Amino acid sequence: MMKPLRKPPGALPRQAFPEGAPISPRQMWAANRFWMETQNLVTKRYGGKRKQHWEVLLVMMKTFELGLKVIGQYERGVRNAERLEVRELDLYFDALPAAFDGYTLLHITDPHFDGLPGLDDRIVAAVSGRTFDLCVLTGDYRTELHGPIAATMDSLARVVAGVQVRDGFLGTLGNHDDCHMVAPMEEMGIRMLINEHVQLARGDAILQIIGTDDVHYYFTDQSLHALEHARNAFSIALVHSPELYDAAAACGVALYLCGHTHAGQVCLPGGRPLVRHVRTGGAFIRGHWRHDGMQGITGMGAGASGIPVRFNTSGEILVLTLRAGPAPE
Ligand SMILES: [Fe+2]
Repeated sequence: MMKPLRKPPGALPRQAFPEGAPISPRQMWAANRFWMETQNLVTKRYGGKRKQHWEVLLVMMKTFELGLKVIGQYERGVRNAERLEVRELDLYFDALPAAFDGYTLLHITDPHFDGLPGLDDRIVAAVSGRTFDLCVLTGDYRTELHGPIAATMDSLARVVAGVQVRDGFLGTLGNHDDCHMVAPMEEMGIRMLINEHVQLARGDAILQIIGTDDVHYYFTDQSLHALEHARNAFSIALVHSPELYDAAAACGVALYLCGHTHAGQVCLPGGRPLVRHVRTGGAFIRGHWRHDGMQGITGMGAGASGIPVRFNTSGEILVLTLRAGPAPE
């Protein structure tokens, strides 16, 4: 595991800041984020600053894994986690520009590729033969918090190569991801939204997509500033966790797409989760929800985190079709 530094890293390479060139928001973000990651300094929207507690959680999960093996339920849990469902939803908006009526999004969240071998191929197979307008990715591409990213990037590249989309791929980072993923993800064709927005145009009609950093690790107010752009156009927010739901709704976001919770991953019969993994927005840990005029989707996650098991949930990817007008009775 990477040893945290005791002081901020030294000067960045000279070519990162050519003499006389203005420092871009991306460069400012990268320097700040890299410092936080190497300090192992978690900045949360709720709870201030503190070190990561992942190792403690991992010990608890490994104990749980051992217990499952003792009672003979581990393999069943792995089979549950490997089951990947494609869930289809039509989402209705009075304010959606008519030009985007019927627009399709493939939403993939929380694949944690290093936790479930073969998930990349299962995702591609699940949507084989279909073409979507846009693919959106809302974070947690790996399970580990530090270390090499090559295998995870390879899996992601297989998904990008195998999924057919007209307008491309957009992505945000989750709490398991680090800043070094941004460059390889953009090289493979995923436009990363680092507290940024992009606009898709059809004639005079605009569909705006906003992406933010995660609220659990390395949160900054730049995420909140990014959401403020929702006041300018019909907007979809890509956020790793549902926990920015209140800020997004206040800014006028129409649709909030997230994951993080895995719908609990391990649930009691009936779907009640043992752990919700959120500090706020506990009502929004799975499925289609509404808050203050905004609609939201919390995906159950394609993969599994910690230990590769699920009970009373399954992996899922979502096909979302935007519809202009009121929902049918
Ligand atoms: Fe996750």
